[in-house]
Amino acid sequence: MARESRKTGKHWLDAIRRDWDARARENARAYINWPDVANEEGAFFVSGREDYEKYVTPFFKRMRFDPQGKVGLEIGCGIGRIARRMVEDFGQYTGVDVSPEMIRKASSYQLPGATFRVVSGGDLNGIANASVDFVLSFAVFQHLPDQAAIFNYFAETARVLRPGGIFRLHMKGLWTLAMGRWQIEAGLSNGPSLAKKLLIKIPFVRLRYLDTWQGHSIRPGEALAKCQRLGLEVHDTEGAWTTMMWVGGRKESSSVNLANTDRNPPRAI
Ligand SMILES: C[S@@+](CC[C@H](N)C(=O)[O-])C[C@H]1O[C@@H](n2cnc3c(N)ncnc32)[C@H](O)[C@@H]1O
Repeated sequence: MARESRKTGKHWLDAIRRDWDARARENARAYINWPDVANEEGAFFVSGREDYEKYVTPFFKRMRFDPQGKVGLEIGCGIGRIARRMVEDFGQYTGVDVSPEMIRKASSYQLPGATFRVVSGGDLNGIANASVDFVLSFAVFQHLPDQAAIFNYFAETARVLRPGGIFRLHMKGLWTLAMGRWQIEAGLSNGPSLAKKLLIKIPFVRLRYLDTWQGHSIRPGEALAKCQRLGLEVHDTEGAWTTMMWVGGRKESSSVNLANTDRNPPRAI
């Protein structure tokens, strides 16, 4: 099954595109939101709306950001699950994705106000410097096995944001020790439902084999340090040491474009 690809060698980005294309062809909705939502189109798009109201709208309130008439960009947009809700807020929406098949499906819905485009898998080529007011990424970096590509997306976020523009990026924020393709991850989980109800976090340690489904974790401190070096002020973090870490904030208004000084081309591993 496409989910379990074990491509090795120096072709991560090719493998990522090939595997996500295969997933999009096999069952895009199931791979995008598996296993949370019944694989039915209505429920699928409702889930995008719910995620937006849970993870994005409150963030705008905290950041005192009004999206009306502004430009929003989503990294790893899939078939437009979140785009449907995001276009209601923004003047312009662009969704980018490594998979041409995902983009083909997203475009087929002909969503007014939305543009979809294919990217390499490690950069935002084609998006102009300082042209975007908000960058969002959800449920994408957790699947990216190449840490350099994740950090390059941070740098690209800094490049495409206008000074004062805001960002909210989701990733696995676990303690991590990588040994080639193997990664030891340690963090906190919600555990069984009673613990969840009581908001108790349970520590865990696990071993993961990096592939195009099981991505690299980013330690919270590393994410914050990277943002700082890029001129991205972090105002808003959530879920540190869990698989649901969000890093959010604002591009410094006075910052020169630092992105290119800290740019790592996506690395093949
Ligand atoms: C789990 S889906 C999430 C889609 C969307 N963010 C959502 O929440 O509905 C992951 C998406 O990220 C895309 N993706 C994976 N690796 C990527 C990369 N390196 N660059 C851009 N998109 C990527 C996949 O093609 C897929 O559409």
